[in-house]
Amino acid sequence: MKASVLERIRNIEDLPTLPSVAIEVLGLAHSPDVSIQRIAECIHQDPPLAAKVLKLANSVFYRRGDRKVETLHHAIIFLGLAEIINIATTVSVFSALAPGKRSEASIRESFWDHSVATGLIARHLDKKLGMKSLGREFVAGLLHDIGKIILDQHFHAEFMEAYRVSIEQDRAMFETEMEFCGTNHMELGYFIVQKWNLPEYLADVILYHHQPSHATHQAMAALVSVADLLAKAVTLPCGGDRMSFILSDQESWHVLKDRGYAVDDLDMERITFEMESIGEQVRSYISTVMEPTSPEYVHG
Ligand SMILES: [Fe+2]
Ligand SMILES: [Fe+2]
Repeated sequence: MKASVLERIRNIEDLPTLPSVAIEVLGLAHSPDVSIQRIAECIHQDPPLAAKVLKLANSVFYRRGDRKVETLHHAIIFLGLAEIINIATTVSVFSALAPGKRSEASIRESFWDHSVATGLIARHLDKKLGMKSLGREFVAGLLHDIGKIILDQHFHAEFMEAYRVSIEQDRAMFETEMEFCGTNHMELGYFIVQKWNLPEYLADVILYHHQPSHATHQAMAALVSVADLLAKAVTLPCGGDRMSFILSDQESWHVLKDRGYAVDDLDMERITFEMESIGEQVRSYISTVMEPTSPEYVHG
């Protein structure tokens, strides 16, 4: 990132911030001996966040079996602390970036669809490949392009130009972003999640999702990269990126293969078929996270 661009970002006063409770929950997650009770109490300090976490825990995306989870305490026991942290992170980021306040640009309209689709596909592939990323692949997929939101909000004219040229010349967005904005969505996404103190794996995947072999968390960056490409293939493209590709030629594919994941055994025809209903799942996830929740959850 150019020094002048960094200076410009640092001086933006209304950069989105995470809710303070979310920051506290994420901080607690790092401490080794934190109790379930303490995490539940912390989330309860922010009733809308608590209600949304509980709602998501009971949604088709997380629910296990028929039993309804009545309290946060139970949700943490059933889903595990890692998944609750994932859910709290995504709910908080959604509220910070207010996807409801869409600008008129179509690029913005498809942004969340693409992000949620990438998260869901990453989760699907994670299971197929037995990677056991504990739901972190979903959060990473969901947030991989958040730098585009910041570009759209704070470098709007330049970003629109980058978008136009990317389509016109069939070039990747990160290239044209660099040309017109002096930075790209990976650098800006990295900047914002570091500022928010989000877990290190997220910053790493966001920075390297277009060059996964450079990442510290290589396998996860590569998984998100494959999911990103598939999301572009099965849903609307995001922010201009709509190039055609052959999966087995991709850097991400080789990274996964080199790390021992049986990508060549994946039945892509079947996966593409399974992904046909992704649009429905995406809409259902977005409405679960976005719709206002009634505060009728039980404390615990
Ligand atoms: Fe990207
Ligand atoms: Fe993407």
